[in-house]
Amino acid sequence: METGRHRPHGLGSAGLGLHVLLCSSLLLNAVFFTRHFLRASPTTTTPRLGDDGLSWALQAAREAEAVAAADCSGHGSVFLDGVAGEDGKPGCECNSCFSGPDCSVRTRNCTADADSGNPLFLEPYWMRHAAASAVVFSGWHRMSYTTTDGRFHSVELDRHIRRLHRAVGNAVVDDKYLVYGSGSAQLINALVYALSPEGNAASPPASVVATVPYYPVYKSQTVMFDGREYRWAGSTATWANNGSRNSTKDFIEFVTSPNNPDSALRKPVLAGSSAIVDRAYYWPHLTHIPAPADEDVMLFTTSKLSGHAGSRFGWALVRDENVAKRAIFYTEQSIMGASRDTQLRILKILKVILANLHSKEDIFAFGYDVMRSRWRRLNAVVSRSSRISLQKIQPQYCTYFKRTKEPSPAYAWVKCEWEEDVDCYETLLAAGIISRSGTLNEAGARYTRVSLLKTQDDFDVLLERITDFVDAEKHSRAPAGSSSI
Ligand SMILES: Cc1ncc(COP(=O)(O)O)c(C=O)c1O
Repeated sequence: METGRHRPHGLGSAGLGLHVLLCSSLLLNAVFFTRHFLRASPTTTTPRLGDDGLSWALQAAREAEAVAAADCSGHGSVFLDGVAGEDGKPGCECNSCFSGPDCSVRTRNCTADADSGNPLFLEPYWMRHAAASAVVFSGWHRMSYTTTDGRFHSVELDRHIRRLHRAVGNAVVDDKYLVYGSGSAQLINALVYALSPEGNAASPPASVVATVPYYPVYKSQTVMFDGREYRWAGSTATWANNGSRNSTKDFIEFVTSPNNPDSALRKPVLAGSSAIVDRAYYWPHLTHIPAPADEDVMLFTTSKLSGHAGSRFGWALVRDENVAKRAIFYTEQSIMGASRDTQLRILKILKVILANLHSKEDIFAFGYDVMRSRWRRLNAVVSRSSRISLQKIQPQYCTYFKRTKEPSPAYAWVKCEWEEDVDCYETLLAAGIISRSGTLNEAGARYTRVSLLKTQDDFDVLLERITDFVDAEKHSRAPAGSSSI
């Protein structure tokens, strides 16, 4: 009985216990399920998993691949941020001289636009390396102003830039500080600021100079920011022969090597000046590399290295800590460091370049072949002309390729030889070629720059127009006394 009495009682409390256990188990499961799904998907829709387990990246990948696969007849591209058409999707953006919805219509007798240094000659390389160079990141990736250790600089990018210079052998990096800029264009003024005497009345402002023909932005930026610390003082030729070494002590000299526009490897002209050596084109696809550059202040840019001009990324290698600090201070004041998104993209690009050095997919071998072929073809046409000439460049030994290389310059520096062609820019324009007048480089109107860096379509049209121009010479009257080349 006791048992009997106890039994119902015992059974009753066991049932209650079981009930509580079941309820708490259900509750716990509900909590786990909710937490699991809320974590896995911050969005309201639950994404389907791809074969490889990807979830939120799939949509972005599909969008990126869809635009890249669009058919623009090989004469244009669709971009993710292109202007949406009637179907709500971005359409083809055609290369110059092509039009139509799929860029298949070639404009007859089209003017060749050889003005800008847009480095699209490398676009086919990145199409070949689509998988390795794509960057995918989440909507919440590095939202902070800063990256690792509270810095504006990506430490990994710093490491890869140094690795690249060492592997290519084009710059000594071990005793240098790195300064990042939004394009090397931003660093032009940052470095002038950093090298100028601090703004106190005791020291005269620094004089900023460059040798003709020079990259016009050195002047336009310096003039724009002219202040107590520095001012534009014109060509080095004005100061080089005045005898006194001291008189150029407070000078900041821009040296571009290889030079834009004529590709010459240059050195500072003024003794005692602080030189900013712009090495934008000092990569083995655009020049031979005689030795690693080791100047106190050097400028580089991805625009001419990898062709990613639109990412706006450049860097300076600076020996002196104080000069580097002042340049970094400048970039922090103006933009709080280069875009973190850009730094990430450039890191990926440099990884691809590094992984392929000296292989059959070497970017420098690819770029060199394209640029050498353009230079050869242009020279073959211009060598038949007495009306225009190009700069002379000799084959030179390149330490990167370990052989003597033919020239592969970024620009043709065209001189009009006929006496009547006083404005070479206008002469070429009349022949359907847009160039960049030598007046902008202080070299005079006899010269004009023709860019060879653009798309293959741009180059092909340029060669057509130059060929027409040279062929038409026999019908034009060469004035007596004009030099022949
Ligand atoms: C000599 C030189 N320096 C600097 C730049 C600017 O390059 P970035 O695109 O990095 O601003 C250019 C661009 O053409 C250049 O030719």
